[in-house]
Amino acid sequence: MAIVFDKENFIFNLQTPDTSYIIGIYDNKLPIHVHFGKRIEKTYDMFSMLDIEPINYGSAHAAVSLDFNDPVTLAGLPQELPTYGCGDYRTPAFHAQYENGTTVTKLWYTGHKIYDGKPELEQLPSTYVESDSEAQTLELYLRDELTGVEAVLCYTVYNDRNVITRSNRYINNGNQTVRLKNVLSASFDMDGCDYDFVRFSGSWARERAVYRSPLIKGNQSVESLRGSSGHQHNPFICIAKHDANEDYGDVYGINLVYSGNFVSGACVDTCDRTRVFTGINPFDFEWKLDKGESFQTPEAVMVFSDSGFTKLSQTFHELIRERTCRGTFRDIRRPVLLNNWEATYFDFTEDKVVDIARKAAEVGVELMVLDDGWFGVRNDDHSSLGDWFENKEKLPNGLEGLAKRINDLGLKFGLWFEPEMISPVSKLYDEHPDWCLHVPGRSRSESRNQLTLDYSRQDVCDYIIDTLSGIFERANIEYIKWDMNRNMSEIGSALLPADRQRETAHRYMLGLYRVLGTIKKRFPHILMEGCAGGGGRFDMGMFCFFDQFWTSDDSDAIERLYIQTGTSYCYPTTVMGAHVSASPNHQVKRVTDIKTRGYVALAGQFGYELDLNTLTDDEIEEVKQQIKLCRELDPVFHRGDMFRVSSPFDSNYTIWEFVSKDKKTAIVDIFTVKGTPYSPYTVFRLKGLDPKASYKERFTGKIYSGDVLMSMGIKRDCPADFLSEMMILEKCN
Ligand code: DGJ
Repeated sequence: MAIVFDKENFIFNLQTPDTSYIIGIYDNKLPIHVHFGKRIEKTYDMFSMLDIEPINYGSAHAAVSLDFNDPVTLAGLPQELPTYGCGDYRTPAFHAQYENGTTVTKLWYTGHKIYDGKPELEQLPSTYVESDSEAQTLELYLRDELTGVEAVLCYTVYNDRNVITRSNRYINNGNQTVRLKNVLSASFDMDGCDYDFVRFSGSWARERAVYRSPLIKGNQSVESLRGSSGHQHNPFICIAKHDANEDYGDVYGINLVYSGNFVSGACVDTCDRTRVFTGINPFDFEWKLDKGESFQTPEAVMVFSDSGFTKLSQTFHELIRERTCRGTFRDIRRPVLLNNWEATYFDFTEDKVVDIARKAAEVGVELMVLDDGWFGVRNDDHSSLGDWFENKEKLPNGLEGLAKRINDLGLKFGLWFEPEMISPVSKLYDEHPDWCLHVPGRSRSESRNQLTLDYSRQDVCDYIIDTLSGIFERANIEYIKWDMNRNMSEIGSALLPADRQRETAHRYMLGLYRVLGTIKKRFPHILMEGCAGGGGRFDMGMFCFFDQFWTSDDSDAIERLYIQTGTSYCYPTTVMGAHVSASPNHQVKRVTDIKTRGYVALAGQFGYELDLNTLTDDEIEEVKQQIKLCRELDPVFHRGDMFRVSSPFDSNYTIWEFVSKDKKTAIVDIFTVKGTPYSPYTVFRLKGLDPKASYKERFTGKIYSGDVLMSMGIKRDCPADFLSEMMILEKCN
C-alpha cells in the first residue's frame, strides 16, 4: 500500500520504495507538511515535533490565527498549501481576489479520498499509469467557508518508483466571481537551509548548463515569462545538501509538466526554513473563475534521493521514458535519420534532397528529414510560415512525389513544420491578420521575422489540425519535426474579453496541448520530434507528446558535452536528439574528427545533419560503423542506466557510462576538452557493474573484473584536444 492513513493522528504517509512524503491535518483543519525524505515506516503524533507555537516567531511580528483550538501563527508552519493573507509571509501557493477586492483565503480540510490509480488532468498533460495497481492517489479536499472556494490537492505515489506527483484543482462553489492570481502546483517546507540550489540555465545554443549555489535568506528562483519554458532556464531544479555529489547525499528534484511561463524556486525565511515551490508563473497571470467553474494546475513531479544525483537522475529518466513519453515509439529503437538543415539550409531542390538521401541510404540511414524551406515562397526566413503547401519550384512533384522517391530508396520520409507561427509575409496573414497574438493599437514585435499564432483560439487550433492532417493524409510522412522559433510578445488575443486577456498565455498552452494530442492520436505512426530553436522548450509537458526533442541548435561535439550532460540531470538520452554535423562546425567553427562527433551523438537519439556526399571514404567507413553501433547498442544507451562518471562542468574530462539493466553490457564514452602536454593521469572509477563478473573490452580484447573497474578504476591522460574513446565492456563469465 503506497498511502497509509494514520487515522488516530490524522497523518497521511505517502510511501515510495525509498521515500516518504508525510502530510498531517492539524487541528482537523490545516494540511501541514510533516516530512519529505527517507522512507518512514510508522507515523505517530508528529505535530509535537513541529514547533507549532506562536511564541517562536515573536508575537510582535507574526499574526496569530484564531481559527484553531490553540491559536497558532502560520508564519513558520510547514504547510501543504500556503495561502496569502493569514499570517504566513513566505511565498504563497494560492492567491485570489474576490468581488469586494479582498485577497485573503483560508482553505481548511473538509475530507479526503484514497484510491488506486492516477487520474488524468483536465486539458493538461501528465505522467500516467498503465494499470491502477501501479500507483495510489490521495485527494485532500479543502474549503474556504467565507467564499465557497474549494481546493482538491491531488497526490499520486508510484508503488515501484521513487516518484510523487502533485497538482491542485480549484472549484468556485461560492456565489461570486473569483480571480485566481497565483496557483502554484506544489509547495513544501523543510527545516534548515543548508542546501544548494541547482538550476539548469543557459541560452540559445547553450542550453541547460549546471549552476549550483548555496541557498541564502530570501527568494531564489528560475522562471520564464516568454510563453514557453525557454532556453534560459528549465523548470527542473534540484535542492541538494551542500555535501551531495553524484553518489552521496540528499537531493530533491522538482519538475513541472508544463511548457509555458513557470517559476521554480525556494525561499528561506528568517528562521532558516526552506520552502520549495513550482508552478505557473504568477506574473501577468490571472484567471477568471466564474461560479461553478474549476481550474486545474499543471502537475509537479517530486523525487527525493538519499544517495546523490545519479539516483535522482535515473529515477527521472525512467519516469520520463516509461510514464511520460507515450505511443508507438516509446519502447522501440528510433530510425537513424539524416536532416538536411545544415547540409543545404534553404537552398535545395527535389533532386538535391534525393542525392543526399541516396548516399544516406547506402550507408544505412533509415529516415530522410526535409527541414525548413519546402513551402510557400520560403527561400529564407522572411516569409511563408502558415502557408503549408509545397513550393513547386523546389518540389515540382509535391510532397507525395518527393516522399515516393525517398521511399523508393528504402528510406522513410520526414518533414519540418513550424505550426505555431505566422509570417507577416504570407497568404495566411493576408487572410487572417488577427490570428496572431497581438494587442490592439500596438505594433507587433517580430522575432526571426515572424509572429506567433494565437493558439488560445479554438478556430486557429482547428485550422492547424485540419491543415496538418490534410498533408499527412496525402503524403507518406512518417516523422515530423515540430519547430517553434520565437518567444511570445504582445500577449493578447482578439477573441478574449478585457477581463480574460491575462489568461491568454495559459490558454495558448491548453490549445497547443489539444493540437498536439489530436495529431498524435490521429497519426500514431508518425514519430514526433519537438524543437524550439533547439532545446528552448525541453520540458516534461512536451514529452507527453514528443518522442524526442532537438536538444540544441549547437551541434558541435564539444559544446554538446556540456549540453547533454546538463540535460541528463533530469532527461534521458532517449529524448535527446543528437546529430553528427560537419567539421568545421557551423556554430562554433571547431574542428573535431568524425569519431568524436559520432560518440557524442550516439549518446542521444542518433542522426546526421550534413551531406554525406562530402565525406571522405574513410569517414564514410566510420559512418557505417556508427550506424551499426547505434542499432546494436540502442538497448544499452536508451533502456539502461546512465552514470556521469566525470562532468565537463568540473573537469577536463567528460565520461558517460551506460550499463544495461542486466549488467551484461556497459558502454563507457570518454572525452577530453583541452589537451595538456605531459598531463598527470586521472583515475575514474566506473559504476553500476557486476562486481563479481569479468568484462571483456571489445576493441582491445582486454579482460577486466567489475570490482577492479569500480574500485581501482581506469586511468587516462589528455595529451591532445577533443580526444574521444568508447569502451564496450561485455560480461564474459
Ligand atoms: C531552428 C531549428 O532548431 C533548426 O534545427 C532548424 O530546423 C531551423 N529552425 C529551421 O528554420
